[in-house]
Amino acid sequence: MSRSALPAWQRLQALAATARTRHLRELWGEGERAAAFSRQAGPLFMDFSKQRLTDEDLAALLDLAGACGIAEAAGALLDGAAVNTTEARPALHTALRAAPDAVIEVAGRNVIPDVQASLARMDSVVSRVHSRQWRGWSGRAITDVVNIGVGGSDLGAYMACAALGEFAAPEAPDLRLHFVSSIDGTQIADLLGALRPETTLFIVSSKSFTTVDTLSNARTALQWMLSENDDAELLLRHHFIGVSAHPGRMRDWGLPEANQIVFWDWVGGRFSLWSAVGLPLALKIGMAGFRDMLAGAQFMDRHFRTTPLADNLPVLLGLIGVWNATFLDIRAHAVLPYDGRLKFFPTYLSQLEMESNGKSVSRAGQPLGYSTCPVLWGEVGPNAQHAFYQLLHQGTQAVSSDFIAPVRRYRQAPQNGLQLQHQLSLANCLAQSRVLMLGDACVENGSAAPEFRRYRGNQPSTTLLLDQLTPYSLGALLALYEHKVFVMSVIWDINPFDQWGVELGKQIADATLQALALGSSGDFDASTEALLRHIRATGGSAP
Ligand code: F6P
Repeated sequence: MSRSALPAWQRLQALAATARTRHLRELWGEGERAAAFSRQAGPLFMDFSKQRLTDEDLAALLDLAGACGIAEAAGALLDGAAVNTTEARPALHTALRAAPDAVIEVAGRNVIPDVQASLARMDSVVSRVHSRQWRGWSGRAITDVVNIGVGGSDLGAYMACAALGEFAAPEAPDLRLHFVSSIDGTQIADLLGALRPETTLFIVSSKSFTTVDTLSNARTALQWMLSENDDAELLLRHHFIGVSAHPGRMRDWGLPEANQIVFWDWVGGRFSLWSAVGLPLALKIGMAGFRDMLAGAQFMDRHFRTTPLADNLPVLLGLIGVWNATFLDIRAHAVLPYDGRLKFFPTYLSQLEMESNGKSVSRAGQPLGYSTCPVLWGEVGPNAQHAFYQLLHQGTQAVSSDFIAPVRRYRQAPQNGLQLQHQLSLANCLAQSRVLMLGDACVENGSAAPEFRRYRGNQPSTTLLLDQLTPYSLGALLALYEHKVFVMSVIWDINPFDQWGVELGKQIADATLQALALGSSGDFDASTEALLRHIRATGGSAP
């Protein structure tokens, strides 16, 4: 049965018709709304009292979750059922952070020993680099590590390295981590100019090991090395590590077995930070820190599996997302961390959410008759206040938001003003969500202002407070969003674990490269032909 034919769905449509005519202000009566619409789980406190939701709406959403079999779906995901139906495989990122004595089977084989062996392999690389035993071809220790990857093989580790800089491993406080992803070569060219080949280690991270963006950057890195020493085998052994689900392709590229760390096709790219794709992060914060992050995620996996729906953070966050996007027709979602260390979190989340749920057909291949994933973007909140908040406050479009902030700084430093800055940030976080909720009703005579100074409010938001930003709390936060995405997919009846939508563009780019590089004529549309002609005429296809 189509989701929209479910009685719970239809009830929600009726409730949404009323909700659309009601202002968030009106929801604040006598009751204990703040307490009723907030939950704590481990290091995370989630306040959703600023959502456009009544008790009745929430109860109906929970009914929908029950009718869609959320609890059973969560069990199937965590137990390793083939939930990725178009690729006939499980999505077992949770196995990567499961307890060492857990038993999770894929095709009748327990995968946990493989997971532990891969962690041990990461551990060995990390301790050899940190103890300066991993040396470059000339005998010098490694000072710089460059991760070459894109999408899920880049964004998670990049985001987490920026978030957890304060937790740099004491054994190697000076080790520098760099990330290169863009296909055009500008990033790697700039970076190589500042590095020394003898002391640089590259991690070539690609689940498929076919991604042209990554392989072209890796080739450029190898050529740069070869300009110093022409023994490719020696350079590959001392300066390149491969991370992939395809050992054969790594070998064909020239990577010796000892320099390969594998993961498995049952780990989705955007869910792979917990695997060896997290190696750059483990090098940054040490294996102990990396394991803390796994533990935080494992906590959230347990919470997701065992907590009743009404108190289950990923379920609630997912239901709120569906309520806003599908029932209230809010098509944009902002992610606003009030902590500069989480600068890249919105970008990471944009892949996680939009590549997973940016779909328009059901699991059975039928067109869905409702809106799914909103456009998700974001920025560090205080910076965004000076950039795009104008639209949130006075634009024409409804936008939902997640405000995210740590309550305490990890290392308080009251002497040098950092504590005050932290409080400034928190104050801004609360102030902005309040104004977005109430509009000019939060100041006396606000409604008497001229139109250009009016704030209509009614923009819903959730506030997520971490007790502090640590590897553990970050792990819990990331797993919360992973499961939120899964919950939404179950309600929308979507497979969130494939990404067929990115394939056609790759094929067409191959054909276009032939036309550009070899001057061959292809079967292009008139617009593309004209652009190709312009590029050729202005020197863009010269070698
Ligand atoms: O093209 C999209 C995508 O396949 C993402 O899903 C993935 O995270 C990224 O490319 C990188 O893929 P790979 O790790 O195989 O290089």
